[in-house]
Formats: sequence, structure tokens, C-alpha cells
Amino acid sequence: MAEQFKVELCMQPAAPRWGKDALLSFHPEGANIHLSDDEQEQNRRIRRAARQLSQMGLASIQLVGEWQLEQQWALWQGLYKARKMPSIEWAEMEAAQTQRFQHMRQIVGWVRHTVNRSAEDIYPEQLAREAGEFITQFAPDAVNYRIIKGDELLEHQLVGIHAVGRGSERPPALLELDYCPAGEENNAPVAALVGKGITFDSGGYSLKPTQGMLYMKADMGGAATVTGALALAITQSLKKRVKLYLCCAENLVSGRAYKLGDILTYKNGTSVEIVNTDAEGRLVLADGLILAGESGAANIIDAATLTGAAHIAVGPHFNALFTMDDTAATTMLKVAQEQQDPLWRLPLLPIHQEECPSDYADTANSKPVPGGGAGGASNAAAFLSRFVPDPACGWLHLDLAACFMDKGTADWNAGATGLGVRSIATYLNQL
Ligand code: BES
Ligand code: MN
Ligand code: MN
Repeated sequence: MAEQFKVELCMQPAAPRWGKDALLSFHPEGANIHLSDDEQEQNRRIRRAARQLSQMGLASIQLVGEWQLEQQWALWQGLYKARKMPSIEWAEMEAAQTQRFQHMRQIVGWVRHTVNRSAEDIYPEQLAREAGEFITQFAPDAVNYRIIKGDELLEHQLVGIHAVGRGSERPPALLELDYCPAGEENNAPVAALVGKGITFDSGGYSLKPTQGMLYMKADMGGAATVTGALALAITQSLKKRVKLYLCCAENLVSGRAYKLGDILTYKNGTSVEIVNTDAEGRLVLADGLILAGESGAANIIDAATLTGAAHIAVGPHFNALFTMDDTAATTMLKVAQEQQDPLWRLPLLPIHQEECPSDYADTANSKPVPGGGAGGASNAAAFLSRFVPDPACGWLHLDLAACFMDKGTADWNAGATGLGVRSIATYLNQL
């Protein structure tokens, strides 16, 4: 067997020959990762060093010396690649930590892998099924789910998922999953999670240019993220009932596709004029949010790769948080900071609802300007607020700007990051 490449943490700076403030220095058996005194920065240094190591094509890595859970996690984050990961012999920790770390890798690894898969490989019904099965394995006795697909969606008045997905040969689908631990049968869920599961977003008749369309296999990142979050919360002994809704569809162009000027009337009575078929995420989420409200859950959290505007506003290193509930915002931001899961709050007020007027319906699905115009991420969030029972109470919307890196960065290999999973999981577990 080939020898393993050894990696050790080191509190001393690297010798000057490795460059100024070098993250890595090498020796015949492997490398040292050099940490700085700034504790906040340490894990980021590990992740960036790992990202550099991941580009060397190493077959097998062994961690030597002392490694804390968060340090090993940062290394995993940076080493993870869509293709060909090295095998890794992790450092020893106490049993509970080892178990926790193993679950984090398994679950966030599933999220990243699922987001990276091609749209040909993972289509709406497949996403719904795999997500249901994935969660079930962590609590086979407490999980039940069903999938509603194709024209059956209309029998349940799920008009958004149906309209967005009907242009594809592969039918749109809703996953409705109930995590109900023993003793909770007569209780309303404490929370409902809703995920955008657009397995491919061509833009529809408001067609995207090639460059923008290339990454749209990742437009189911919200669905993968909330699925991972519930799974992780379960492994961290979630005791309360939680519902999960994944709104899965493929936004394509065809003779059956929905069109500009169409009007959708939702189950809650809200009518929506389609002025841009590329603002499809909010249309599918609206159905999920209505169901989440009907479940009686006091807390509703949705996650979606919803707008390019969020990406422009916070950049690729943060997810964006929108809520009208300041208490919930404070809790979520605190949780995110503790979990080292970068999250930044952006504005959301009732006035944002007025930015998408329609002469033919209660609202349009976008401002009729390219990309939704200024404040597009807030306007999208305000659109969603029309479909939750009380937007000022317990509702959080995450626009996942940091879900996916189009190209590799200093911190990440190209593709999915899995950011957001830990915050949502921890939030659930403290409700
Ligand atoms: N899935 C996209 C948003 C997106 C774009 C996420 C780039 C990640 C990277 C979404 O469905 C979309 O197309 N949004 C439009 C909205 C607009 C038409 C109002 C956008 O952001 O341009
Ligand atoms: Mn779109
Ligand atoms: Mn989309």
C-alpha cells in the first residue's frame, strides 16, 4: 500500500521560504498547516490549506497530532471535491465527538453530492424520493412520507409546482415528510421546513443565457439543505415533531410549459400574474409555504437558491436571511455564528410586497425588469410572505447565495458547499 500523506497542525509560523504567512509547509512525509493566533481565523486557515492540498491529487491522507472536531470539519470542507476525494484517516477524538463528526460528514456530504449531480441524473421525482429515503434511515420508526406528482398536484391545488414543472417530460413532485418521534403524535409540528427543488432552471420562456444556465443543476440546493438539516437535527436527537416539504420541478421550455401572462390562483386565494418564467422558485415555494402553514407549525423555515440579487448583495461567502420576526432573526444569527455558518440579514418589510404590482392579479411574480431589478432579493422574500400565515411570527427565509461556487475559491472547490445545513439543524434543536 502506498504511504499516507501526513498532515499536522502547527502553531508556529512557516519558515519564510514557504512565503509570507504561508498556510502550508512541506516535509518528506507530508505537510504542516500553520495556524495563526487569531482563533476566529484558525478554521478558515485549515479550510484554505485543505483546499490547496485537494489540488495535489493525493491518494491517502492521515491526520497526525491533536485535532479538534471543528478543525477536522474545516479540513473536510476544504478537501471535499465533486470528483476523486483522497481517503482520509481522521484523528482520534472522544467517542461522542467522533460520532457527531461522522454524521456531519455523511449528511453534509450527501447534500454537497446531491447538489453537484447533473439534472439528467437527479430529476424532480428522484430528488423527492432520495430525500425521503435519506431521512428515513436516521429514524425509520419516526418518519413517514408521501410524494404527490404530475397532474395529481392539481387535485391538491398545488398550482405553482405544477405550472413550473409541467413543461418537462419528468413530472414535478412534492415531498411531504413527517418526522414524528414517539409521544408527539397528537402535537402540531414545532417547525415546518420548505425547500426549493428546481432540479434544472433553464428560465423557461424567459430563457437564461448559457453562462447563467450552466450552474442551474444546483437550483435544488434549498431542498438538499433543508433535507440535510432535518437529518442532522435527528442525529443530534431532535425530540419534536417537524414537517418537511420539498417543491421539486424542472423549469423547461416546451409546448406544455407555462407562459408569460398566465395567472395562477393559489390555494390561499392569492392570484399571481407570471411576468417572468425565470422567477419560478417563489412560485413553487408558495405551495410549500401554504402547506407548512396548514400543518399548524409555529415555525416555518424555507431555504432556496432564489435570486441572483442575494448573491450580488452578500457575495458568495454568506447566505442571506430574511425575516420580519426580530426575535427569530437574533436566534438564527447567533446559532449561525456558533456553527461557523456565515449568514447575513437583509431587509424585509411589508412595503417590499408593493414592488411587483400587476393589473391582472393580486401580484406579479417579479418586477417586470431584467433580473427583478434593485432590491430583487427582498422583493422575492416579500412575495413569499404572502403565503405564510403570519409573516411577522416564526418565519425565516434563507436565500442560499453561498450554496454553490461556480468556480473554485480560496476556501472551496467548485460546486456545492453545504453551508446552511448546520444553522438550520441547530435552530431546530433549540426550539
Ligand atoms: N435560480 C435562480 C436564482 C439564482 C441565480 C441562484 C444565480 C443562483 C445563482 C432564480 O430562479 C432566478 O432565475 N431568479 C431570477 C429572478 C428574476 C427573474 C426576478 C434572477 O435572480 O435573475
Ligand atoms: Mn429562475
Ligand atoms: Mn431558480
